Amino acid sequence: MKKMLFASLLLALVATKADSGFAADPVEAGLQSCGSCHGVGAPPHDPTIPIIDGQQVGYLQKQLQEFRSGERESQVMSSMAESIRSSDLARAAALIASRPWPKRANGAAASEPDAIAACRSCHGVDLGGGQSPEGVAPRLAGQSPEYLADQMGAFARGERGNGQTMMSIMQSLDAEERARLATYMGGLSN
Ligand code: HEC
Ligand code: HEC
Repeated sequence: MKKMLFASLLLALVATKADSGFAADPVEAGLQSCGSCHGVGAPPHDPTIPIIDGQQVGYLQKQLQEFRSGERESQVMSSMAESIRSSDLARAAALIASRPWPKRANGAAASEPDAIAACRSCHGVDLGGGQSPEGVAPRLAGQSPEYLADQMGAFARGERGNGQTMMSIMQSLDAEERARLATYMGGLSN
């Protein structure tokens, strides 16, 4: 009797696990911790944290690798990226990229800054990202303006060094121009 009870309990446990989609894919299960900061089916609560769901796959993989190697510095992200086995990085990036990009509630559309024309040659006409002469360029349209401005400043100051061209482009703009670009790009909702 006891044995049977145990067996049905075990079955019930297995059933709930299968229902919730857990354990079926260990890489996907490992990515659940990311949602507390990056949002789950919604944009991050903190505007200094980027949207990653639906971002360009090649870009995501490169960033995760470089958070691990320290080529891109971030205390929190280096330990998060190290929690993914290096052999699982490509799959983790593919899973994140396959999710829909969560739309932020945008403010009023900002007027288009002149400097945006140059960005389109690499980040795409719609600023949705893609293959560029410098490698895979990330989606910028609809990203948090606070995060975009932070990163542009970090490239300009040389604090983010994992994109040589981005560093020189950002050095050629002042903080006010960068802020205008960030507001405009964050306000796009394609
Ligand atoms: C405690 C909060 C937190 C957690 C948890 C977290 N992240 Fe992050 N993540 C950040 C912050 C903050 C940044 C911006 C880092 C910077 O300023 O360069 C970031 C940046 C990133 C970026 C770069 C995005 C871009 O547009 O360049 C990727 C990719 C990323 N995180 C993936 C992940 C993955 C995958 C996980 C889970 C394994 C994860 N993060 C967990 C806070 C977090
Ligand atoms: C020659 C191609 C090229 C041009 C031109 C270019 N970018 Fe980039 N940009 C890239 C690439 C490639 C990356 C990814 C760098 C890396 O691997 O970390 C990037 C990264 C970025 C990021 C970081 C996004 C994130 O999620 O962290 C921002 C912001 C950005 N670019 C803004 C701009 C703006 C604004 C312009 C125009 C003023 C511009 N870029 C022009 C190629 C370009």
